[in-house]
Amino acid sequence: MDRIALITGTNRGIGLEIGKQLLSQDWTVIFTARNMAVGRPIVNELRETYKSAWFVQLNVDEKESINYMAEYVLKEFGRVDVLINNAGVLLDGGKSLSTLDIADLQKTMETNVYGPLQVTRALQPALKKGNDARVINISSLMGQLSTMGKDMPAYRISKTALNALTVIQAQELAGDKIKVNTMHPGWVSTDMGGPNATKSIEEGADTAVWLATENEIPTGKFFSERKEIEW
Ligand SMILES: NC(=O)c1ccc[n+]([C@@H]2O[C@H](COP(=O)([O-])OP(=O)(O)OC[C@H]3O[C@@H](n4cnc5c(N)ncnc54)[C@H](OP(=O)(O)O)[C@@H]3O)[C@@H](O)[C@H]2O)c1
Repeated sequence: MDRIALITGTNRGIGLEIGKQLLSQDWTVIFTARNMAVGRPIVNELRETYKSAWFVQLNVDEKESINYMAEYVLKEFGRVDVLINNAGVLLDGGKSLSTLDIADLQKTMETNVYGPLQVTRALQPALKKGNDARVINISSLMGQLSTMGKDMPAYRISKTALNALTVIQAQELAGDKIKVNTMHPGWVSTDMGGPNATKSIEEGADTAVWLATENEIPTGKFFSERKEIEW
């Protein structure tokens, strides 16, 4: 059966790699990026190999962009089976709670938490029509309460909030048979993860691709390396 995924923030990093791996498994993938001039050419190149690669502009901070994307997707594709909320920012490297710029905390929450909330809400009608529909929120161990550290406080707070959002969404969307999970990709060598990261981008995409493709998955859980982990 043809499966349709939509991924946020695919002009580089883990999101782009998740899309490539799903294309190679014969999925239809709707790639999105806020910067069309960067995001669209990447998908045009992918289309030379995969006719099931598509692009739509999406800035997860902008309500109009989200609504346009959701209307377009429902009209053109009729449904979405898997939404991957991948777009994210890390703005407070080297900061502590006492030196943190509150504007950076607000901006981080906007992209990492309100973004996934609004994108999921807007795509709910398309997910409702999906087959075995799933939402995968790309979180981080930085948001794990049981191992909480004190560096990068804005990023940590945003990922803990994303985990809470996941648990609430999982309960609320259960009625529409949409499963919602959150996951840590590992420390991955991307622009965000930096050159010292321990995982390749291919490895960083693995658990998200597994959550998208595995036959039976639970809902409302936190995963790393294909295993459930504690909050
Ligand atoms: N790398 C790691 O070690 C690591 C570890 C744990 C969790 N994660 C999580 O994994 C996800 C992907 O990170 P990555 O490592 O691939 O980072 P990345 O290379 O910095 O990529 C982030 C992506 O998010 C996009 N983005 C940011 N704000 C956006 C917005 N408002 N609207 C649409 N797209 C937006 C970026 O687009 P622009 O180019 O336009 O900025 C970029 O495509 C993030 O949620 C991150 O928190 C990463």
